Amino acid sequence: MEVKNVIEVIQSSIYQRNHLVLSDVNIALSEGEFVYLIGKTGSGKSSLLKVLYGDLPLKTGTGKVVGIDLKSLKTSKIPDLRRHLGIVFQDFQLLTDRTVEQNLIFVLKATGWKDKKSIETRIDEVLDSVGMLSKKKMMPFRLSGGEQQRVSIARALLNHPELILADEPTGNLDPETSNEIMNLLLSVSKQNNCAVLMATHDYDIIRRYPARMIRCEEGRVLDVNADSIEF
Ligand SMILES: Nc1ncnc2c1ncn2[C@@H]1O[C@H](COP(=O)(O)OP(=O)(O)OP(=O)(O)O)[C@@H](O)[C@H]1O
Ligand SMILES: [Mg+2]
Repeated sequence: MEVKNVIEVIQSSIYQRNHLVLSDVNIALSEGEFVYLIGKTGSGKSSLLKVLYGDLPLKTGTGKVVGIDLKSLKTSKIPDLRRHLGIVFQDFQLLTDRTVEQNLIFVLKATGWKDKKSIETRIDEVLDSVGMLSKKKMMPFRLSGGEQQRVSIARALLNHPELILADEPTGNLDPETSNEIMNLLLSVSKQNNCAVLMATHDYDIIRRYPARMIRCEEGRVLDVNADSIEF
């Protein structure tokens, strides 16, 4: 069986405005793969993820994410790309003025879902898969950080993504809750055959949950294996 790449970046440079952050970027992630994106603060992890979800333009080289070409990506096509991706942030980014359920309805409606029954069913499925079904009617501020992150993972799963991009998803959580969220991310990745690219600088997590690593360092991106990492 042919293995499909969900990320393919070839000879690209990553810029923040005119500031060159990373050059000679070559990355391939195959379907279902779980990969860490590591590197010191300011090394370019978030910038690279932003290019992959269409928040920063791909100026040089070529890039494809879930089969969508980043180079020719027009602003009007960004929602198309986002529909095929799940994105998880350090600060959860739930809408604070509405319930868990309404947060998820908002995303489904924004991505073209219309049928009320299908919307309801899908919301129950994703909340159940992250263990948050009973919190459906709660406001986000009444949830713990770990619970809010569970909801944001449920939100990421809504449209059956082939890829989740996670920018320090455990960055605001205590070690125990971080482990819970890691177990959840790994299990949803496996269950849905969904690849994950997760930025982190938490070496405890990397040690506990070993996986392939890509490192941003001195303006370059390197594929590394655990033996070469100095913890
Ligand atoms: N909005 C922006 N405008 C201009 N430069 C930026 C912007 N955001 C980040 N940068 C610069 O780009 C470089 C890479 O930053 P980036 O946020 O990608 O690093 P990071 O690896 O995610 O760091 P951290 O671990 O702290 O999240 C840094 O030099 C930073 O100052
Ligand atoms: Mg960052």
